[in-house]
Amino acid sequence: MRILLTGGAGFIGSHLGGALVRRGDQLVILDHFLPLAETARKEHQLREEDLLGGDLPVEIVRGDLRDAALLARLLPSVDAVVHLAALAGVRDSLADPLLYESVNVHGTLVLLQAMREAGCRKLVFASSSSVYGAREGEGGFHEDEPADRPVSPYAATKRAGELFCHAAHAHWGLDVSCLRFFTVYGPRQRPTMAIARFIDLALHDRPLPVFGDGSSLRDYTYIDDIVRGVLASLDRLRGFEVINLGCGDPILLRELVEAIGAAVGRPIRIERHPEQAGDVPRTHADIGRARRLLDWQPQVALLRGLAETVAWQRRQG
Ligand SMILES: NC(=O)c1ccc[n+]([C@@H]2O[C@H](COP(=O)([O-])OP(=O)(O)OC[C@H]3O[C@@H](n4cnc5c(N)ncnc54)[C@H](O)[C@@H]3O)[C@@H](O)[C@H]2O)c1
Repeated sequence: MRILLTGGAGFIGSHLGGALVRRGDQLVILDHFLPLAETARKEHQLREEDLLGGDLPVEIVRGDLRDAALLARLLPSVDAVVHLAALAGVRDSLADPLLYESVNVHGTLVLLQAMREAGCRKLVFASSSSVYGAREGEGGFHEDEPADRPVSPYAATKRAGELFCHAAHAHWGLDVSCLRFFTVYGPRQRPTMAIARFIDLALHDRPLPVFGDGSSLRDYTYIDDIVRGVLASLDRLRGFEVINLGCGDPILLRELVEAIGAAVGRPIRIERHPEQAGDVPRTHADIGRARRLLDWQPQVALLRGLAETVAWQRRQG
């Protein structure tokens, strides 16, 4: 298949791009490589997968998702789209919600419209566990629960993206899988995310900032498991589906800190801070649907995933 991968220079995109090419797909990566301060890191991510500067069947397009003319040029030659391009930070979305709306919602709609016009019918859309909001009670979050109480602009944009995807399915016949990723980690995780940041600080013997009392619960999911879930969605799903991709086995923040200490092999110091705005108290994926429709289940337990991530971060110096 020839696949357009938006956001392909990012954390998840670079891993997924490598996997697609290795299994024989042709790839068009669309990414704007911005901000400039991040360009070198994104290029490095692609080089680690041999996606830049090698002789693999990859076309790299440096451009903006919201550029309808660019998409009109790219789409007629592709069979399917994996749409990862987005502004992805919860806290930054509180500072600049209009920009998040523009990239994540308007950008998604520009893509859907361009797919319709080009006759490209298959889309995998990167959604997020954040759409569940500050969900109370016990147990895993199920895809059929209402997801209409987002607590950050970022979460609202991801939910809006899902809704536009459904409208595109209903009226234009697109096959769309909305995959709700639960906190993804692993080599090349965005440096502002908790695990990458904690490992970096621990390796430099610096204290880890812990927000709240350490009782927040997160369903950390290793990058290779996410990549397998996206590939299975591309291959198997038709119609419209919303599917959680999460480990299904959440842990407390204070347990994560201990596990990072064990993975780094050093005692950890922490610094307490108040709860952060936009954060939810817990995430926990019900993964029954992913098991059933994708024959998917996570294979990388947290300790192994952390060990891989620490090893990679050590190699980066
Ligand atoms: N990492 C996670 O834990 C997680 C969890 C849930 C959902 N997601 C979603 O998965 C996707 C990928 O996340 P990631 O962690 O790899 O983030 P990332 O920031 O590493 O990757 C996103 C990529 O999109 C590109 N991009 C942003 N705006 C663009 C635009 N206007 N035009 C073209 N390219 C643009 C960026 O340059 C970047 O390379 C995002 O949609 C994110 O919302 C991620």
